[in-house]
Amino acid sequence: MTTKSYILGFGSYAPERILTNTDLESLVDTTDEWITTRTGIKQRHMAAEGETTSDLGAKAAMNALASAGLAAKDLTHILVATCTPDAMCPSTACLIERKLGVSGLMAVDLNAACSGFLYALNLAQGIVAMNADAKVLVVAAEVLTRRLNWNDRSTCVLFGDGAGAAIVSARPNEGRTVEIADCLLSSDGALGDLLLISGGGTSIPYKHGDSVGDEFFVRMEGREIFKHAVRSMARVCEELLTRNGIKREDVDMLLPHQANLRIIEAVGKKLDIPAEKVFVNLQEYGNTSAASVPLALADADSKNMLPAGRTILLTTFGGGFTWGAALLRT
Ligand code: ACO
Repeated sequence: MTTKSYILGFGSYAPERILTNTDLESLVDTTDEWITTRTGIKQRHMAAEGETTSDLGAKAAMNALASAGLAAKDLTHILVATCTPDAMCPSTACLIERKLGVSGLMAVDLNAACSGFLYALNLAQGIVAMNADAKVLVVAAEVLTRRLNWNDRSTCVLFGDGAGAAIVSARPNEGRTVEIADCLLSSDGALGDLLLISGGGTSIPYKHGDSVGDEFFVRMEGREIFKHAVRSMARVCEELLTRNGIKREDVDMLLPHQANLRIIEAVGKKLDIPAEKVFVNLQEYGNTSAASVPLALADADSKNMLPAGRTILLTTFGGGFTWGAALLRT
């Protein structure tokens, strides 16, 4: 990419209600011990009744605008990564535009499951390359708890609700630079059946009077996903570092998709990046799908963990399958 692109501000939002592992013990046949040792998750946030993906996304967007020192009227585009939109139509991006009190922007949703934020970030890079004055709001938001089968202990303990946001521009903020130095994305549609929410789409349409079946909720082959996730994230990170001439020891922070602590640790090990350089906050949020990377970035930023002079490696993996990595330089 010839035109440079920068993140002007980060924001996040997670619903107030918290569901702990102990709470889950009374819903399904599980234990805090099993969830903690197999995943590292201790709790997750859960949207209140009536609270939607666009509500979470709009709050994360407002926090990102405040962090960037911008107002909603300064935005030119809204990209929303989600696999749990408020509705099939209108798009969650249009609903967020309305909640921000603006109109006239290009506003569109995209779905790359858990990889959605990096996919949207890369598209935002393209937009600012075409239009040097663009200010692109990138939101990733999910209310996955509405698409969980609460009778299936192998999936319902993993996910949580949340949103993260970033604002992308061709010029950095005065006084602070977060450059999106590079981004590499991939997918393999042949593996799509290993992780699905198929009900309600055109392949399994809802017919009036039907009861809602298991296919309306997350279904997955956990062990298979685990293997592919580790392999794909490690490989794409290696490729990105190599093409940028960056040695592993020069990475100051690895910030991976927050799905499972064992996946994160295995990726860190394969990349030879020590645990103290690996950012983890899944104990607090669980797997928030597309929102996990920007939520973690906003979390790291609020803890002053992204000071000037750092090289940050982001990586993600999700349904589709989709995966990718990005390099940030502060
Ligand atoms: N509580 C107690 N026991 C459970 C639970 C639970 N919540 N869930 C499953 N078990 C049981 C299983 O029934 C099985 O019992 P059995 O041996 O009697 O048959 C046993 O635990 C072991 O099950 P496995 O599936 O082999 O456990 P594993 O160690 O593979 O961990 C897990 C399962 C956590 C799902 C893991 O495979 C994983 O994290 N995979 C990745 C899935 C993922 O992250 N998906 C999210 C979307 S994609 C992404 O974000 C990367």
